[in-house]
Amino acid sequence: MAKERLESEGYKVNLISYAPSEAELIELLPKYQVLGLRSKTEVTAQVIEKNPHLLTIGAFCIGTNQIDLRAAKSLGVPVYNAPHSNTRSVAELVIAEMIALSRQLGDRNTKAHLGEWIKSADGSREVRGKTLGIVGYGHIGSQLSILAESLGLRVIFYDILKKLPLGNATMAKNLAEVFEVSDFVSLHVPETPETRNMITKRELAWMKKGSCLINASRGTVVVIEDLVVALRSNHLAGCAIDVFPMEPSSNKEKFISPLQNIPNVILTPHIGGSTEEAQYAIGMEVAESFRRYLKIGSTSGAVNFPNVDLPLGQKASRVLNVHRNEPGVLGEINGLISKAGANIQAQFLSTDEKIGYLVMDLEVQNVSELAKEIQGLKRSLRTRVL
Ligand code: NAI
Repeated sequence: MAKERLESEGYKVNLISYAPSEAELIELLPKYQVLGLRSKTEVTAQVIEKNPHLLTIGAFCIGTNQIDLRAAKSLGVPVYNAPHSNTRSVAELVIAEMIALSRQLGDRNTKAHLGEWIKSADGSREVRGKTLGIVGYGHIGSQLSILAESLGLRVIFYDILKKLPLGNATMAKNLAEVFEVSDFVSLHVPETPETRNMITKRELAWMKKGSCLINASRGTVVVIEDLVVALRSNHLAGCAIDVFPMEPSSNKEKFISPLQNIPNVILTPHIGGSTEEAQYAIGMEVAESFRRYLKIGSTSGAVNFPNVDLPLGQKASRVLNVHRNEPGVLGEINGLISKAGANIQAQFLSTDEKIGYLVMDLEVQNVSELAKEIQGLKRSLRTRVL
């Protein structure tokens, strides 16, 4: 889909169906100005350094660990990804899991397949009127909040940042407040030093007897051994876990977890964001980032670059310059512009501690010559004219 989208904009796209090695990438890339990849293709500093004509890189996935972002930035190459394309997919999975846990769907389904008929209302409940506690009220947490309320759940959440509660949700003062009142606790925090082993026996003990834990965030957030104890002692009525401290690296590897074979425990192979809709959205999001950077110069959404969001359809020539962020560099650039007798229609600048990204709409006779002079400055990393 991303291919069709880019082709409709006039770009030629070649697809490679495997993850090329570093050597193969170095050999392949001279033919291309843009590199799109998935999580298994590693882009080292060498790959970028050996291809100075490379304009931008897009990860058609969520993570960007496979790319040397620092090297890309220092060579003026913005890197894009699609971090929120699967937000809705994760939120929907959690909704399904709350209902499945409340009705012991996983176990009853398995037993029915084995020929056992477990018809009983004991321990089966509706989710309506129950309380959902959300830890991490970001993209997924807040989306879940809205969906859960539409099913009649009450929502309480905790976040380290002050967040606007959506709908009728309430913000808790601390984690304990969320755990103590919730029938379901769902975790939606990123992996950080603070969230590593965030949920231990202490936090699980705060949870109401008979409540359920859901984790579709990162596997390192919950201490699995403590969760096993809370489940085996029947303090928790169940859990749904999509992410694990150690996950198989492929579908061929065996999955082993201490959570296996415990009643009312739903284990899924990190599929929270794995839907066809999310895949489609990832393709569209990265393709659109490429288009905006190549045609307009916008870097909004780039993970390693100062973000500049630019208006469409400028009349003047647009010069894009990436430079090392050091004192005096803007003065040098403006000096060259004034020497060329150019009129600056608009200038946009965004910087971080290492680089500056300067976009200039200029009325000038010979824009290529001026761009060449700007690129010749010793602190210029890359200069492009649109
Ligand atoms: P986000 O960045 O939009 O939201 C995370 C929220 O957690 C933020 O509001 C942040 O302030 C909050 N937070 C950070 N540290 C916290 C702490 N110590 N205590 C409380 N709140 C804290 O992230 P998004 O997109 O909502 O993703 C959440 C998690 O879901 C991430 O870990 C991501 O890796 C995971 N994920 C899992 C998928 C799956 O397939 N299971 C798919 C997509 C995302």
